[in-house]
Amino acid sequence: MEGRTTAAFQGKTAPPDGSRHRVAEGAMATIAIFGATGDLAGRKLIPAIYNLWNAGFLPKRIAVVGVARREKSDAAFREEMCAALKKFSRTNEGLGDACDPFVSNLYYQQLEFDDDAGYARLKERLNEIESKNGFPGHRLYYLAVGPEYFAPIIESLGKAGLVRAAGEDRWTRVVVEKPFGHDLPSARELNARISAVLSEDQILRIDHYLGKETVQNIFAFRFGNAIFEPLFNQKYVDHVQITMAETVGMEGRRGAFYDGTGALRDVVQNHVLQLMCLVAMEPPALPGAKHTRDEKMKVLSSVDLPVNEPLSTWCVRGQYAEGTNIPGYLSEEGVAPDSVTETYVALRLKIDNWRWAGVPFMLRSGKRLKSRVTEIAIQFKHPPTHFFQEMGVPMPKPNTLAFRIQPDEAISLTFNAKSPGMEMNIQGVTMDFNYGHTFKEELPEAYERLLLDALRGDSTLFMRADEIDYAWQIATRIAEAWQDAPPPELYRPGTWGPSEANKLFEHCEGSWRQP
Ligand code: BG6
Repeated sequence: MEGRTTAAFQGKTAPPDGSRHRVAEGAMATIAIFGATGDLAGRKLIPAIYNLWNAGFLPKRIAVVGVARREKSDAAFREEMCAALKKFSRTNEGLGDACDPFVSNLYYQQLEFDDDAGYARLKERLNEIESKNGFPGHRLYYLAVGPEYFAPIIESLGKAGLVRAAGEDRWTRVVVEKPFGHDLPSARELNARISAVLSEDQILRIDHYLGKETVQNIFAFRFGNAIFEPLFNQKYVDHVQITMAETVGMEGRRGAFYDGTGALRDVVQNHVLQLMCLVAMEPPALPGAKHTRDEKMKVLSSVDLPVNEPLSTWCVRGQYAEGTNIPGYLSEEGVAPDSVTETYVALRLKIDNWRWAGVPFMLRSGKRLKSRVTEIAIQFKHPPTHFFQEMGVPMPKPNTLAFRIQPDEAISLTFNAKSPGMEMNIQGVTMDFNYGHTFKEELPEAYERLLLDALRGDSTLFMRADEIDYAWQIATRIAEAWQDAPPPELYRPGTWGPSEANKLFEHCEGSWRQP
């Protein structure tokens, strides 16, 4: 049994500094959400805008225009978004029955995404809303649509004169959702098409993991403390484990999308590699988008996949089989009955630079696993000598520093201590910092932070074209290695995935954590 010293790290509870982070009245943009009748808008985007607005980060009068193919009136859209807010918003105090006055800031405009005349009408509508309300005319377009529409919509916006050139007084920015491409060639093509219309600082490629509070805390932890950073390198670290585990399967609605995507493209190419970058990158020279993204890009470009070693020693893919009362992946709606799409991936890779050479990075992600947990664990090396050997004390376990990204957001450090008594007995104990215990305020949703940053023009937490390119190079090399490989291993729902994944540890100390 491990001992536990609670709240050894004490934090101070400070209210968010609303004034400093507020979007000033004059900088307020009209937000146009393409795909406004879809899942993301109702579950995440409108609730995020509401929470920003309610907390005073946005002016009281704003304009959010839902754009989608279905015919709908403003009133119907407002009613639907009010229902979505009641269901999905993290806070709903002050919403009232009709969600007024918040929903009076919402408008709806019907648009077929390939209809030029529709874009002309959209332009008129946006101008009319802005001039009626006296808004300055900055525009944030949010593309919450299928990836096949990203480039056509941006091109149509350009053709219709709905994009202002970078550097003009009234700015235009476009948030592009994931997946950004399906593989390296398609991501490059997409980039080329949208870069023909927008400059790089107008494109905000979203990865919602970067907006998670605990993910941003990795910056604070690494670069705001003097005592940990000197240990983050090959001299002290044995290996790093990153787990993004989910208990859900296809949720009754995602099968068709997922079957053409799989875990590698859905979450490893983006979320998992981004987490790896944050833990492995050098301290940026300065805060801000350029320096942070330069450092992440260097990590991605140093990734070394052991492609010359047998696949099973560095990469395992799995697919969930049927469980008790849980349909197997192949029986999910929208999934081909003979699909070989992976719902689980485990990888051992290296980052071939001075800091990390020789340190395995063990990454895994899967659906229908034992628990929903995302964590990064840094396992340190054993002490250089086994000082206690002559006393008959077994080798103490190596120290581990774990960032719990979600749920139960926390950071914990395990170390060894003498357990009380006349003999030397050594036991692992834990020092915990737990967000919920230390801070009173609820953690904001990732989309709140990212939308606010998009409005403020801060792209630090968005992905730059070259990062995406390098991440796709990694994913593509993995996908290529699968081409002649046997199909994914089956695993039972509610487990930690295929047992073959344990073999990845043949080259390093330890085993997969069971967080
Ligand atoms: C999305 C993936 O990007 O992230 C989903 O498409 C996954 O498959 C989701 O379920 C996980 O996000 P979160 O924030 O719930 O961990």
